[in-house]
Formats: sequence, C-alpha cells, structure tokens
Amino acid sequence: MELCIIGSGYVGLVSGACFAEIGHHVVCVDNDQRKVDALQAGKIPIYEPGLEDLVHRNVAAKRLRFTNSIEDGVDHSQIVFIAVPTPPQADGSVDLTYIERVAREIAGVLKPGQYRVVVDKSTVPVKTGEKVTETIKRYNKGADFDVVSNPEFLREGCAVPDLMNPDRVVIGSASQKATDLMKQVYEPFKAPILVTDINSAELIKHAANSFLSLKISYINAVAAICEASGADVEMVADGIGMDKRIGRNFLNAGLGYGGSCFPKDVKAFIAISKQLGTPFKLLEEVERINEGMLDRFIGKLRDVLWVLKDKHIAVWGLTFKPDTDDVRNSVAIELVNRLVAEGAHVTAYDPKGAEKAVEWKLLDPTKVKLVPTPIDAVNGAEALLLATEWKEFLNQDFAEVKARMHTPLIFDGRNLFNPGTMRELGFDYRAVGRP
Ligand code: UGA
Repeated sequence: MELCIIGSGYVGLVSGACFAEIGHHVVCVDNDQRKVDALQAGKIPIYEPGLEDLVHRNVAAKRLRFTNSIEDGVDHSQIVFIAVPTPPQADGSVDLTYIERVAREIAGVLKPGQYRVVVDKSTVPVKTGEKVTETIKRYNKGADFDVVSNPEFLREGCAVPDLMNPDRVVIGSASQKATDLMKQVYEPFKAPILVTDINSAELIKHAANSFLSLKISYINAVAAICEASGADVEMVADGIGMDKRIGRNFLNAGLGYGGSCFPKDVKAFIAISKQLGTPFKLLEEVERINEGMLDRFIGKLRDVLWVLKDKHIAVWGLTFKPDTDDVRNSVAIELVNRLVAEGAHVTAYDPKGAEKAVEWKLLDPTKVKLVPTPIDAVNGAEALLLATEWKEFLNQDFAEVKARMHTPLIFDGRNLFNPGTMRELGFDYRAVGRP
C-alpha cells in the first residue's frame, strides 16, 4: 500500500521504517528540513536498536523516502498517518496545536475525488478525532476522507521489535471502508486487531499508559514498606507477579518512571478526566508517589554522607531508560541536577545520552563532569549512584571500581545488581526496597 507518515520522530520514523519493511511504500514527511536532509543522507537522528539498518535497507529497496512536502505525501498515499508531538501544557493538558496545523495542511492539499484515510497515531485526548474531522471539513468543504485513531504502543529502546510484533493493533473507526484499509496495512504483522469507535481508541492509549504508571508507583510504594519492614521488594514483585492476573512486567521498583510518555500521559489523563467532570484522583496519587521517589533516594544518600556539598559523586546512567539516547524527563538527569544544586561534584557516564543531555541543555557541562567510560566516573568518588540500568554496568571490573573509589559505597537506584555479590566484593551496597 501507499502510506504517508507526517512527523519523523520516534513514532513516525519507526512506524515508517517498519511499514516499509513489511512491503508497503512509505513517504515520511517532516517540516524540519535539517532532519529531512539528514535522513536523505542516511543519517538517523535518534538511537534506536535496529532502526538504522531498517531505514537503509528500505530506502535502498525504494520502499521508504523522506520529504518536507505534505502535498507530495498526501498525493501519493491512500492512508495518511499523523505522528507529530503532543506536548504537555503548563496545566498538564495536551497542546494540540501541531495536530490542528497538520489537519489544516492536509485539508489544504486534498484534491476533489481523492479519498484518503487520515490516521491519528499521536497520543491525543479523547474526542480529538472529532476535532480533526471538523477541521478538515472546515478548511476543505468537498474533502472525501475518514479519520481513524490508531494509537501506538511501542517502547523506546525496543521500538522496532515492539512495532513488528505488537500485542495488539487498535483501530478506532466509524467507517467500514477506512477499517478495511487499515486492516490491510496491518495484515502482514499477524497481530490481533481490535476495532473500536474513535473515542474508545483514543482513551485506550491514555488508560494503558496510566495503568502501567500505576503499576510502577504501586511497586514503589510497596518498596517503601519493604524498607521499613526488612522485606525484599524483588521477592514481593516475583510473588505477586506470578499471579497471571497481575503479571510481573512493570513491577520493577526504582527511581520511578520518566521519559516523554508516562509523566505527560498521566498528567494529561488527570486533566482530561477533570475536564469531563469525572476527576481521576487515583492518578494524582500515582504521580505523587513517583515524584517522591527521588526525594527518598537522595534522603538515603544524605543519611550516609550527611552533607552532600563538596562530595564527589559518580552517576552511572543519564537516559530515562536503557537502550535509548533519549534524556527527556529523565529521572537520572533530575538526580544529577539536584546533586549539583546541593553543591556536590558530580561525574557522570552514559553510553548514549550524554551528548543529547548537553545539546538539549538539560545538563550544564561546566557543572557536571561527563566522562567516556564508567570507570572514569568513579575516580575518587565517595558514592556511586546507578540511575539507569544499562546492561553494560553489570560487566564492569568491580575490583577496579572499588580500588578507584574513595569509599566503596553504591546506591543502586534500579536494583540492577545482586546485593550478595556486591557485598562480597566489599561494597557498602544499598538498593531500593531491598535489605
Ligand atoms: C511507554 C509505554 O511502555 C509504551 O507502550 C508507549 O507506547 C510509550 O510509553 C508511548 O506512549 O509512546 P516508554 O516511555 O518508551 O514506553 O518506556 P517504558 O519502557 O514504558 O518505560 C517508561 C519509564 O518507566 C522508564 O523511566 C522506566 O525506567 C520506568 N519503569 C518501567 C520502571 O520504573 N519500572 C518498570 O517496571 C518499568
């Protein structure tokens, strides 16, 4: 099929590449000319395992191309996906200006008699589909189109496998013709397809991300009870997770959730529920628990080091999760900045995130020392804090780490290491919710 994807960010680019991989012809549109130039030159603006190969292979096979022209994309495609950002506003509600602008732009280039399915893939509040439909009609009276909601559930760091093997595909549609075309797009993925009305599909996305956030806050609250009682949150998570009704996924205690989705989507769902007159107070508690995790962690560090000012602290990990270079809303970055604000001397290492943290001005490189290896970070450190659970941290020479540190103290914010092993190696090892 001929597909167009507007917006070449995480969702748009990965979707475009995967749709091309299964045989569709895809044109990816972005209004950032530098990004289009880079992609045309074979440079991938984000780090996502497997993505670079996928893009190169499909560009070479002429199934994937990049342009800055919405007209080009819409002209050549039966189905037009919108995958532009929907950032949060100050009050937590969703800023839909990019979606509205793209809807107007699509309206401006739709030609008479040219039927198109306009698919919203961005995460949007319930009832956005109705607004997109009204907008296209307002700016193009004779337009022949249907709007569909098709939320995306990929995770950064494993976006390609998530997209190629989805648990489910949700198609929110009010038109049989549009539904049939969407089913054709997804048929090669051999995944279960759930067809719903548009409002339900939009709600599924916010409800899913909020539920996963709730699972994380739940286990983090349990971790605090474990700390107060001497129980081990990893064992508790295993024990409750073996119940199929609960499941073990997303029950990893730590510093809390971050990234560009969960914090924003929980806030948005709280705002949406208020606007609809049915406030979702449970989610306010989910947020409160999450925001308290860093305070608890730094509090425990202070209990040992007493004053943080002038202490040398090593931090491993800056990205909001492993296997990505994304540092947006990263708890690790917030941790570093809070230590710096207290006057600590922080040396940090991350396999992929340091460059973007500086480029996006999330870290001040004159205040945080960024080093090229984990071992460089621990020289003279009075504590090592693990903030992101990159696998490579498991394979370090810990005798060397210990020898280089001023004091062999480790605070593991992601429960990555085995407590017994770390203590045998001679570390004063502290985790989250574990004795
Ligand atoms: C999340 C959802 O998992 C995806 O299904 C969704 O498509 C995506 O948001 C989105 O809305 O676009 P993502 O933010 O990429 O994906 O990453 P996750 O793997 O969900 O992790 C989010 C945060 O939760 C990370 O900071 C991670 O460290 C934290 N987390 C996750 C925990 O603290 N504990 C866990 O058990 C799992």
